[in-house]
Amino acid sequence: MEKIALVTGSSSGIGFETALALAREGYYTYATMRDTKKGNQINEIAKKENLKLEVIELDVDKDKTVQDAVNKIMKEKNRIDVLVNNAGYTLFGCLEDLSMDDLKAQFETNFFGAVRTSQAVIPIMRNQKSGTIVNISSVAGKIGFPVSPAYISSKFALEGLSESMRYELSPFGINTIIIEPGVIKTNFMSSMKKSMKPDSAYKEITEKVIMGISMMAEMGTPPQEVAKTIIKAIKSENPLPRYVVGNDAVMFLEAKKAKTDLEFENYIKKELFSS
Ligand SMILES: NC(=O)c1ccc[n+]([C@@H]2O[C@H](COP(=O)([O-])OP(=O)(O)OC[C@H]3O[C@@H](n4cnc5c(N)ncnc54)[C@H](OP(=O)(O)O)[C@@H]3O)[C@@H](O)[C@H]2O)c1
Repeated sequence: MEKIALVTGSSSGIGFETALALAREGYYTYATMRDTKKGNQINEIAKKENLKLEVIELDVDKDKTVQDAVNKIMKEKNRIDVLVNNAGYTLFGCLEDLSMDDLKAQFETNFFGAVRTSQAVIPIMRNQKSGTIVNISSVAGKIGFPVSPAYISSKFALEGLSESMRYELSPFGINTIIIEPGVIKTNFMSSMKKSMKPDSAYKEITEKVIMGISMMAEMGTPPQEVAKTIIKAIKSENPLPRYVVGNDAVMFLEAKKAKTDLEFENYIKKELFSS
């Protein structure tokens, strides 16, 4: 039986590579994006490689586009085997500099976006008695960091959601998998949003952290590595609850496990303020 995949945020980076990787694995892949005009590149690759990949519109912030996309897939294929909740962006800014609107918009995409698509797809997978939902979290879903409280808390929320979904969905044959990448070389720095008040007390740390992450992004793990991990996870008979991608992520998460909370905080402070 033909397997069907839906990936959100497929216009660039991790979503782009994951949609291609799924299509190369034989999945009929709906590479969804909020602006389908950005689909030329993925369409060209799919055509050249003769992949079964279709670009369709889906904005994870908008109920209607989510429902329309899922309805179209059900009409055409009548099943969904894999959902990859990937769409997201990074909002930089210290808490005092963030407006409630900034914070809500970050959660709308990074957290409620995954909720919205999952709620649309779960009944289908439950009826099929099978399916896999992959939530793209981050090492930021496990570790607090200054200048990114909005992004970090949206990913912490996604981690809690995913852990809870696992209990609820496994009786129906649905796997939920969390992916925790470190810094990946994608468009995330060019699409990031920044909030800083003109008289901000956090100007220095905000600029320092953004510059540091930009430099790390240049040397980041290629997004193909994340796609490879997702394929490995969904092909596994008993997928693990979470997969970490990138040496930086492994290092931070191991340090977090090995240290007390205060030791870890001091380690991060040393990393951050040593240069
Ligand atoms: N890069 C990293 O270091 C890293 C590390 C850990 C986790 N992640 C996570 O990986 C995911 C993908 O990010 P990326 O690094 O691949 O960045 P990216 O290259 O900027 O890609 C982000 C994708 O999300 C899409 N998107 C944003 N808002 C959307 C919305 N409302 N509806 C639908 N699509 C939307 C973007 O579409 P447009 O082109 O229309 O903007 C784009 O396709 C995100 O969840 C991010 O938090 C990234």
